[in-house]
Amino acid sequence: MGARARLETADLNEPLTMVPSASTDVVVASLVLHYLKDWGPLLAELHRCLKPGGALVFSIHHPITGWLRSDRTDYHRVELISENWDWNGKTVTGRMYRRPVSAVFTSLLEAGFAIDAVEEPQPAPGVEDPELDRILRTTPVFLYVRAVR
Ligand SMILES: C[S@@+](CC[C@H](N)C(=O)[O-])C[C@H]1O[C@@H](n2cnc3c(N)ncnc32)[C@H](O)[C@@H]1O
Repeated sequence: MGARARLETADLNEPLTMVPSASTDVVVASLVLHYLKDWGPLLAELHRCLKPGGALVFSIHHPITGWLRSDRTDYHRVELISENWDWNGKTVTGRMYRRPVSAVFTSLLEAGFAIDAVEEPQPAPGVEDPELDRILRTTPVFLYVRAVR
């Protein structure tokens, strides 16, 4: 990338003080936001950083799948859920926040974004594992959103 890009690390629960206001064309957040409990402060920061017309593009675990993995006591709350992954034979537990569909979009609207596109993606042909292909093709695994300042 040479001098054309600058790499910074940040805790997304904190203000993004290194990013000037109205300086950014696109924010991409792939499978990140569901690790944050409270979206309000971050969405306000991203709205501040984006240029007018700039886009926030993100994917999260689909709220319906999160609900199926929860204890299902109250769909309408934001709750911490956990999931076990097989990592080369070792079980790793991931923890993330499940939120209702309305909370996803209300948070964006309250931060001043307009919803531009929503997708529940299915895989392109060529997934080698037939069981994984079936799951990705027939269940709500991910939610993709593009929101515009
Ligand atoms: C499932 S990984 C996704 C990585 C990559 N974006 C991708 O799509 O392959 C989740 C990422 O969220 C980051 N993350 C989780 N909580 C965060 C926080 N509070 N601040 C910054 N990054 C965070 C983790 O460091 C990790 O890189």
